Amino acid sequence: MFHPATQSLRSQVRLGFWLAPCALALFVGCTQLGNPEDPGSGGEDPASAVPFTDPLSMPATPTLSTADFNSAETCAGCHPNHYEQWSTSMHAYAVVDPIWRALVNIRQEEFNGERDRFCTQCHSAIGTRAGDFDPNFSFDDIAPITLEGVTCEACHKVQSLARTYNSGHVLDPSGPIRGPIRDPAPGATHESEYSPLHDTSDFCGGCHDVLEQHGLNLERPYEEWLTSPAAEAGRNCQSCHMPIYTGVAAAVPGVPERDDLHLHRFIGVDMPLSDDFIVDDETRALLREEITTLLRSAGSIEIDTADSVLAGEQLDVFVTVRNLIDAHNLPTGATFNRQLWVSLIATDADGNVLYETGHLDDVGDLRDHFSTLDPYGDSDLIRFDSGFVDAEGNPTVFPWKAAEHISNSLSPLYARTFTLFIPTSADTRGPISIEARLRFRTFPPFLLRALGVGEFVEKLVITDIDETSGTVTVR
Ligand code: HEC
Ligand code: HEC
Ligand code: HEC
Ligand code: HEC
Ligand code: HEC
Repeated sequence: MFHPATQSLRSQVRLGFWLAPCALALFVGCTQLGNPEDPGSGGEDPASAVPFTDPLSMPATPTLSTADFNSAETCAGCHPNHYEQWSTSMHAYAVVDPIWRALVNIRQEEFNGERDRFCTQCHSAIGTRAGDFDPNFSFDDIAPITLEGVTCEACHKVQSLARTYNSGHVLDPSGPIRGPIRDPAPGATHESEYSPLHDTSDFCGGCHDVLEQHGLNLERPYEEWLTSPAAEAGRNCQSCHMPIYTGVAAAVPGVPERDDLHLHRFIGVDMPLSDDFIVDDETRALLREEITTLLRSAGSIEIDTADSVLAGEQLDVFVTVRNLIDAHNLPTGATFNRQLWVSLIATDADGNVLYETGHLDDVGDLRDHFSTLDPYGDSDLIRFDSGFVDAEGNPTVFPWKAAEHISNSLSPLYARTFTLFIPTSADTRGPISIEARLRFRTFPPFLLRALGVGEFVEKLVITDIDETSGTVTVR
């Protein structure tokens, strides 16, 4: 009747730990993320020496020069649409992102600059290979092209792929611009070459699968995709994150209209939050709308209960959350930053709250281990994001301190059912109404405050991916 993964949340209460659902990995299939093929894998001691350099993506001495790359600005005149779309994307924001910078600065201090290149190798592959992020670099000294983050030529000067993780792209600044067009029209200032690689998920995996320096698997949408129904059906990352539209690829006379251009807004779950990065409200509203639409397609929540309950008895509520994405987990990517959880409230006919979970404390945090006001105050909390524990078994937000990465995320199309218990008393008056929501946000407020970027807390948006409700009569 219910999904076999049905489990009692009561048993989690005793564990009193924010990652408790994974202690029940046997029942719910939680994933312990590790990676067998990484050369630095198996580093049980996070501080153990895995090379801090890599000949391809973190070279000890520069392998190329920032001067050999063209700024996105130089493409804008002929590719105004691509430029405009890209310029408000997380790719363009990758090196100015204050949240990223705050973490990079902390890591820089902790390792005295020794591991600086690690966090920069994907956020700016060009700058890292050009020596802009040598140990103890300062953000004041990096080249303009490096500030452009994942800029046009970080993708379009990719000649081949050496591995599908940790900045695996081989860049060839002197080579042609590579892309999906087989018959490029004349009129460009660059040579063009058709590249089948750009139309594969592997291409995205080269940056989107992230292994920490000690081998711990941090992000792995590509690996999740490899065994997904979408992969089997031949649908790649681009099909959802770069949807196609009709138009001209270049605003140059004689260029034909094409019906398979790829949107470069790279919509996911987040958008640049700095006011000076996106200046107009219209663009912000557009991005927010597209993010919301994508998120609403991602999952569903259902509740199931008996039709009635005897006053004074406990009501069992079965909550089922389903991943509707057939391409990767829900959530995916930076799941250790994200929050995805169930909020459920049950009230009686007089409006008394009989039961509540997934509600926030007064400073906007979930009542988990990290809540300053009500730590562990919500022992039933159902969540699908992930967390790190250090070698002593304590939760940590820093990947480099993590001994384990424990994930509750749902595999493609997978559903998981939980049971919640709602108490009633002899004078509870029915009907009882139950409202449940599947909620998402990009960062927990406590983290932004701790990183010194608390000004973004008020810009965090909670998106209700799905919601449902029901009533139960009281006998
Ligand atoms: C292998 C490539 C790679 C490396 C190495 C890498 N990142 Fe990222 N980073 C990404 C990708 C891809 C995303 C987008 C993932 C997502 O949004 O789910 C991302 C997203 C982020 C975000 C979220 C940004 C936001 O505002 O939503 C933060 C913060 C971040 N990275 C910090 C770091 C830090 C700190 C390090 C070093 C410890 C690091 N990254 C190393 C590829 C990388
Ligand atoms: C003087 C105008 C001009 C400039 C400047 C320009 N391009 Fe192009 N580009 C074109 C034209 C014309 C095409 C062919 C479009 C078509 O056939 O639909 C093209 C095609 C492309 C393609 C597709 C290539 C393929 O074969 O798939 C990419 C990718 C591209 N440009 C990227 C860039 C980037 C990145 C820059 C900046 C570094 C840039 N372009 C600068 C005019 C220009
Ligand atoms: C069927 C459509 C679809 C395909 C194909 C797809 N995605 Fe997604 N992606 C989504 C949806 C929906 C979300 C929002 C829910 C989530 O975060 O899982 C998302 C979210 C993301 C995020 C943001 C996650 C976060 O919380 O920070 C990243 C990064 C991402 N996808 C990368 C990829 C990569 C890489 C591929 C290919 C390997 C891919 N996606 C293929 C639909 C898709
Ligand atoms: C994160 C990587 C990435 C970045 C950054 C990027 N592109 Fe692309 N671009 C692609 C991919 C991938 C495709 C082809 C998608 C496919 O075939 O599925 C593409 C396609 C194109 C095309 C061919 C027409 C089309 O829409 O398919 C042009 C032109 C282009 N990009 C220009 C640009 C310009 C100009 C910039 C910077 C303003 C830029 N791109 C930034 C990955 C990127
Ligand atoms: C050169 C490295 C690189 C490549 C190649 C790359 N990405 Fe990214 N991508 C990043 C980084 C870094 C971020 C996060 C930037 C930040 O938030 O600071 C990101 C962010 C994103 C996001 C936004 C996630 C969110 O949290 O909303 C999406 C969606 C995305 N990428 C899709 C793609 C797709 C699809 C491809 C393949 C066509 C691709 N990327 C190729 C490095 C890359």
